Amino acid sequence: MCRGYIALACGELRFVSPVPSPFANLSDRPSQSEPSPNPAIDLSVSLGRLSLPNPILVASGTFGYAREMEGLTDLSSLGGIIPKTITREARAGNVPWRTIETPAGMLNSIGLDNDGQEAFLAHHLPYLASLGVPVIVSIAGRTIDEFVEMTARLDEFAEVGAIELNISCPNVSGGVDFGTDPQSCERVVAGCRAATSHPLLAKLTPNVTDVGAIARSAEQGGADAISAINTCLGMAVDWRGRRPLLGNVMGGLSGPAIKPIALRIVYQVAQAVEVPIVGIGGIATIDDVMEFLVAGASAVQIGTANFYRPTAANALVDELPAAIASLGASRVGEVVGTLATP
Ligand SMILES: Cc1cc2nc3c(=O)[nH]c(=O)nc-3n(C[C@H](O)[C@H](O)[C@H](O)COP(=O)(O)O)c2cc1C
Repeated sequence: MCRGYIALACGELRFVSPVPSPFANLSDRPSQSEPSPNPAIDLSVSLGRLSLPNPILVASGTFGYAREMEGLTDLSSLGGIIPKTITREARAGNVPWRTIETPAGMLNSIGLDNDGQEAFLAHHLPYLASLGVPVIVSIAGRTIDEFVEMTARLDEFAEVGAIELNISCPNVSGGVDFGTDPQSCERVVAGCRAATSHPLLAKLTPNVTDVGAIARSAEQGGADAISAINTCLGMAVDWRGRRPLLGNVMGGLSGPAIKPIALRIVYQVAQAVEVPIVGIGGIATIDDVMEFLVAGASAVQIGTANFYRPTAANALVDELPAAIASLGASRVGEVVGTLATP
């Protein structure tokens, strides 16, 4: 069913099919940080109080807890790692099927399968912190109080570089409201803001009418940056069996199919807020990265591409200096939001 992708969701690494994929190149090995051909280019970026060595991050839910990717990719070259979203208590996630390949991406309805916050702090955070790369912990709560409690607990850990509030998961009931209602969004971000001195990123859903209003609410609540976007709600159907393919009926679409939507949203959010934006959605090539930077993103996250090319983010870090230099710039910030619109 799920052809050509590695299902790495929720910590398990599972190569699910040998069917040739136009994307697959699983024999890629880590590039081990080849020297940049443009050493004069400054790749560092700031997301509010969060400083990153470069703007190429890996997206939550597509990179496990990083340990799973250790032998496949050069973790040390990444601008930041966002592990799978954690919840306060362990969750088993949704019933299968939980991933489906589509013509230009994938549908997933994992349902926040994870071992809970304390297991993360005990077993995953120490490893992540040992990598020397900023760790942005993604959390989801069912209520504002739960978001705030989880944030307060993370505040006790200096290893946490920032917290990404997943107020946008389409696969669990309750969680997505914070990303679709501006008042709820502001309240949850403000509650978390009061509970920590760590930088906060609010991750938005594309499944709204006015994303600018939600982004403004997150900014007013005290978010240091906006991450956009989470997956687009979609569905796959087996017409012969007259049944939905995903166990949860609907799921989130990701990958190349959603890149134009994500670009449009980054552009709209850039018009709506002053805080930096982290672009996410279908990013796989250096052209994709540059498009997002020019449209208004200060950094990007690589998601679905990790499944078929685990070294994608490494390659983008290597290719970025030449792309920045080709625009006559010497640092990333010089190209951010420079799109000329009529
Ligand atoms: C299998 C899978 C699991 C995901 N799990 C999470 C998650 O736990 N938390 C989250 O914030 N986003 C999650 N996402 C969304 C990605 O982080 C990202 O926002 C989205 O896939 C769009 O980027 P992409 O098109 O590059 O994949 C998941 C995506 C996929 C494909």
